[in-house]
Amino acid sequence: MVLEAIRYKPGSLQILNQLKLPHQVEYDDVKGSEDGWHTIKDMRTRGAPAIAIVAALSLAVELQVARLSDNAEEVGAFIVEKLDYLVMSRPTAVNLADAARKLKMIVESAAKSDGNDGAAVVKAYCDAAAQMLISDVSDNKAIGKYGAEWIEKLAPGEQVSVLTHCNTGSLATAGYGTALGVIRSLYGNGSLKRAFCTETRPYNQGSRLTAFELVHDKIPATLITDSMASALLRLKGPSERIAAIVVGADRVAANGDTANKIGTYQLAITAKHHGVKFLVAAPRTTIDLQTQSGADITIEERPGKEMTMIKGPRFDGVDLDLSQVEMVSIAAKGIDVWNPAFDVTPAELIDGIITELGVVEKGANGGFDLTFAMEAHN
Ligand code: MRU
Repeated sequence: MVLEAIRYKPGSLQILNQLKLPHQVEYDDVKGSEDGWHTIKDMRTRGAPAIAIVAALSLAVELQVARLSDNAEEVGAFIVEKLDYLVMSRPTAVNLADAARKLKMIVESAAKSDGNDGAAVVKAYCDAAAQMLISDVSDNKAIGKYGAEWIEKLAPGEQVSVLTHCNTGSLATAGYGTALGVIRSLYGNGSLKRAFCTETRPYNQGSRLTAFELVHDKIPATLITDSMASALLRLKGPSERIAAIVVGADRVAANGDTANKIGTYQLAITAKHHGVKFLVAAPRTTIDLQTQSGADITIEERPGKEMTMIKGPRFDGVDLDLSQVEMVSIAAKGIDVWNPAFDVTPAELIDGIITELGVVEKGANGGFDLTFAMEAHN
């Protein structure tokens, strides 16, 4: 089975329902932008690049069947309104806002061209949205290559173990993944001893999704709870020593401060304490030069029940009954809950940012120069 989070052909969009993984592999149709909005908000699809692509394609399939005006400007205004709506689904990952901004530019210029009708605007939009699905995979493969080469230099000629957090793989992108793409490349090069992945509470993207991908690809891997990371980093034996922590990103501010899944910040602190390299892997479109620092990033808060309840198939003492999925409470009833979905890791704790153009390290002034990402936003 090929791991594919997003299946698109003109007129049809399907997403692998990530709420049902790892127990059930089920694809859901996404029939339009409203459906796309809920798919993203409810986390049936998630991960910064996947969110942007599903939003864009959900509107494409809607436009492909809608009865629209022949007037190019009216069609352009309709698309812009729908994109503004889709951007409201989740606030932290910049990829969605960036994709919407670029698609708006394409639509506005198609609407203004001489002789263009509504159908030409729809075509320009759908072609650009479909291209996002294609470019994401090639960007991820480049990220994987550059990240693996950088990590291999930490221990030339040896195999290395790495730790990752959340899910940044084929399920979070159009394919291959960012931080998990680096792990795939290390493994492909024969340089990976073992990948460790955190459970990633509260939503368990690590134990449900990253572990699923690692098992699927037969990559040697071990699951830990988030609270075990420091104990793992302290181990210095040749078989457990961690060479680097590599994570994804939802938004990298102009100064390198990085918003990513809650728990990333504490991993960066423990990496610094233990002298372990800490790397962020993300396409240039995740670098937000308009946001000066992490203090300016909106952090999404998720419903408390994502922390106090857990979902899984019924267990009869011997077997899992996959047809009987139930929600179970794992917290005292009545307790107040704080559930931020992301945190911000200060740039000072980050050793390198891996993009599809290479690995950026801090300059002589001790800061990152990320202005090279500008052209990815045009
Ligand atoms: O809440 P999620 O599951 O969408 O959070 C995902 C992450 O934080 C990922 O690390 C990030 O989006 C990068 S995915 C390539």
